[in-house]
Amino acid sequence: MCSIIGYYGNSNAAPILVKGLRRMEYRGYDSVGIATKSNNQILVKKGVGKVDEVNNMFHLDKLPGNVGLGHTRWATHGKVTDANAHPHSSNSGKIAIVHNGIIENFSELKAELQKEGYTFQSETDSEVIANLLQKNFDDTSDIKSSIRATISRLNGHYAFVAMFENGTLAAARYHEPLIVGVGEDDYFLSSDVLGFIERTDDAIYLDNGNFALIDPSGLKLYNFEGELIKYNITKVSKEFADAYKGDYAHYTLKEISEQPDTVLKAGENTQDAITQTIDFIKHAKTVYITGSGTSYNAALVAKYLMSKYAKIKIEPIISSELPHDPESIEQNSILIAISQSGESADVLEAVRIAKNSNAKVLSIVNLLTSSLVQESSLVIGMNCGPEIGVAATKSFTSQLAILYKIADGLCNGCLKPDFDKASKAISKILSNHSKIKKIARELKEVSDIYILGRGINYPIASEAALKLKELTYIHAEGIPGGELKHGPLALMDSNVYVVILNPDDSTYNDTLTSANEIKARGAKIIGISDKKSDIYDHWIEIPKVDESLYPLIEIVPIQLLAYYCALEKDADPDYPRNLAKSVTVR
Ligand code: F6R
Repeated sequence: MCSIIGYYGNSNAAPILVKGLRRMEYRGYDSVGIATKSNNQILVKKGVGKVDEVNNMFHLDKLPGNVGLGHTRWATHGKVTDANAHPHSSNSGKIAIVHNGIIENFSELKAELQKEGYTFQSETDSEVIANLLQKNFDDTSDIKSSIRATISRLNGHYAFVAMFENGTLAAARYHEPLIVGVGEDDYFLSSDVLGFIERTDDAIYLDNGNFALIDPSGLKLYNFEGELIKYNITKVSKEFADAYKGDYAHYTLKEISEQPDTVLKAGENTQDAITQTIDFIKHAKTVYITGSGTSYNAALVAKYLMSKYAKIKIEPIISSELPHDPESIEQNSILIAISQSGESADVLEAVRIAKNSNAKVLSIVNLLTSSLVQESSLVIGMNCGPEIGVAATKSFTSQLAILYKIADGLCNGCLKPDFDKASKAISKILSNHSKIKKIARELKEVSDIYILGRGINYPIASEAALKLKELTYIHAEGIPGGELKHGPLALMDSNVYVVILNPDDSTYNDTLTSANEIKARGAKIIGISDKKSDIYDHWIEIPKVDESLYPLIEIVPIQLLAYYCALEKDADPDYPRNLAKSVTVR
């Protein structure tokens, strides 16, 4: 959730660190800081706000020195304050650290260190790493030994970078991402290749349970037992360099607008894995499908697709719920894990639980360098390019496109999803900005929005509600159409807006009846449909497509609506408050 970065080389570290942090801000963004080493001194600057705000205030990028580290924070332990922002220095000021993850036994370690006279400036769990390192370094005067001794005391999951007063950088990885960038005469340490992609495309993906030391003798990697290990340098795909907004005002708008292309490219480079997945599912006794947030909504669509078209039952599981019901996974089953980032801690935990029951893990992932990929027997790549906006948009429709392909294979081609037609339909919807903007202006003042959908359109109603909540901070709720009369109708009055997902499919007439019931209670209705009706106060027209494809296209106008409504409310659509792109904590 936080991002960490380190630089070791001949250039000025500070501007490189600030630039890298700016590109990783999607991971977490309530406070920022960097530390550099100059004249045998460690200098630290940090504060609350986004990278550019803090940099404008404190001129982080002007710190001198050729070695440094930096951090953007997404608060877990301790409020959003300057003191809790990273880097954290050890009591002597001779070691600074940045950390991503959670140190579960920090209270115990803190109490132990306090007994020995160490003091703490922050409420964070991370600060114990700085003082523990100092204690171990003071004991041994050896950096490698102090890293090993420190790691041996930490419980939880972490990636951290530490800078010592002599300029040595050390970094360790345990269940949080950490990548080394290898430049011509410099090194980078980063949570994401975006942190250094402008400087080098040579990367080493640190394995779990490894640590790195960088000093004048170069880079060395060790396992936690202290044995030197060999490493491979990987060429990072240049596609990561696409992570620019270009002419778009926001990443979110750019990513929504890319969908006519991304639905065509979904799974393109991993067609064999799709074929094998189909085969595995055909022969499996039990198939589960899991994800969090948007990815779970895609899993719900899969359930409907597979039962309706392929006559195969798959059971959707919310990843974060599985730890509370681990016995529900039958032995030797299949678990399909869906995750854009491949780093969601809840999804990784669900995978671990399923593996304990000998389940085979197949995954649908966008980031092919992620932890989920390493945990899976088979991987289908979403292939939608980097998604920087915190709210998932294009990754959702890519997930759906892949699930359509799987369902089609399972029903021996009964679906024949016409992605060209879907792509054109999305382009048409995207050309309707002005109407959607107008509705967004009206929604700005509203405090409750309900989204109604039946059958396969219900998971889209849930996804629509998630987008509206995240981007506009308006309370939004997806309702299965038939459930209206079992409770939600009590909420309908003239202050409420209801979005009706009403494509011309088998749910059309029943959903129109629900719309009438709502209208009779005075609520305003936004109809998303290819068929006009007088009942809608606002009609957002979607093109006619094959019945099975409506879920893929009908989410797009709501993504736009949520985006424009965020702008109306002066909310930043790329970085919604309190959220982070990769949720690596449970
Ligand atoms: C919603 C959103 C989140 C993610 C969820 C899972 O817009 O972005 O709900 O979908 O955190 O993330 P991944 O797919 O990376 O596992």
